[in-house]
Amino acid sequence: KKEILQTTLLNCSLDEQDILTYKDQVKQIHENLPNHYATGWMDAPLHDYEKLVTSINYVASEIKACADVLVVIGVGGSFLGARAIQEALAPYFGLPKGGIEVVYAGLNMSGAYIKELLAYLDGKQVYVNVISKSGGTMEPALAFRVLRLYMEERYGDKAVERIIVTTDEEKGILKNIADKAGYRQFVIPDDVGGRYSVLTAVGLLPVAVAGIDIQELMDGARHAATELAQPELAFNDAYKYAVMRHMLYEQGYTNELLASFEPGLSKFHEWWKQLFGESEGKDHKGLYPSTVTFSTDLHAIGQYIQDGRRILFETLLHFHEIEGDMAVPYDVRDEDGLNYLTNRTFNEINAISKQGTALAHAEGDVPVIQIELPKLDAYHLGYLIYFFMKACAMSACLLEVNPFDQPGVEAYKRKMLELLKEEKAVTE
Ligand code: PA5
Repeated sequence: KKEILQTTLLNCSLDEQDILTYKDQVKQIHENLPNHYATGWMDAPLHDYEKLVTSINYVASEIKACADVLVVIGVGGSFLGARAIQEALAPYFGLPKGGIEVVYAGLNMSGAYIKELLAYLDGKQVYVNVISKSGGTMEPALAFRVLRLYMEERYGDKAVERIIVTTDEEKGILKNIADKAGYRQFVIPDDVGGRYSVLTAVGLLPVAVAGIDIQELMDGARHAATELAQPELAFNDAYKYAVMRHMLYEQGYTNELLASFEPGLSKFHEWWKQLFGESEGKDHKGLYPSTVTFSTDLHAIGQYIQDGRRILFETLLHFHEIEGDMAVPYDVRDEDGLNYLTNRTFNEINAISKQGTALAHAEGDVPVIQIELPKLDAYHLGYLIYFFMKACAMSACLLEVNPFDQPGVEAYKRKMLELLKEEKAVTE
């Protein structure tokens, strides 16, 4: 059977035999993974997701028919996945094919951002999808307060039809608000944490509205869930990737740089960064996840990668086929001296720049993990998302940290609330 995704380690003294020394440890972690609580995402694509896809597509069709813009309110795991898929698959310019514009709110507390957003919505038909698993996170709660009042002012009694809530099935402030107001609701399963929730309604509704085929996305994820259920390290690329990055970490590399050559993937990088950063950065351990988009960043941080402190390894993400391309045109003047590239396509030149980068980084002693997929489309992105989630769970367990909690994020939320309440007490 031809593999859909391939992981290769380059520029490094570690070989397949070194990687396979982890095979017993990996098998043991694999067997123990389902005993962790928040692993509902692991088998979800293997179950019947048709019903979820149908109900999401149904609501998405209504939104596309009745609105010009969907405002998605959420932060962290409640928006990064949707924005990643949307930007990876939507056209670079103009509106998405078969979808409407999707914009984000509640991902920051910038007054300028929310004020400009309201002004931008003027004259446009609007729906709102507010997403929060806990239902009480400050950033989305504040944005929802503003947008809820805005919708009520604009649509009166009809506002209730234009606000969709994605939250916990039973608890939380947002759940109470939604029940009381009679908003339509989608559920974030209790056993799926924020950064592992992109393949639930959290990610699926916004991207369906943006015109992305969520059936394809889920079919790709199912393919991954089937293949990557394999306990043997030698046959499981997600586990191989987890072991490769773990071994490099053990050798003293402290930073992993996820790199790709397609600018539409830069928001996908952000999703990946949260997944690994929040899952592994605990007990003063973990690789620091950072990201670059080439070739743009080769002209910026490329110098450091090539010649700076030897603390980095690179994970190169490569899709062999990208939809959309053009050939370099012939110019009779050839004043720029580029006629030798006539008829080569931009994507071909981009792929050669990828090879050049890997070679240059070999000279600079930068280890590279290469992850290759045949095509950048919904199916392969669904596969890749699942691949990274499975690899991340394994990788965190190799580090002996819990992949599914985020005490550091909770600490920030707690401290901010304390400060806001202290200030209120002083002013009263
Ligand atoms: O991964 C996580 O759990 C976090 O990043 C959350 O997604 C983020 O803090 C938002 O939380 P909530 O969905 O509860 O509003």
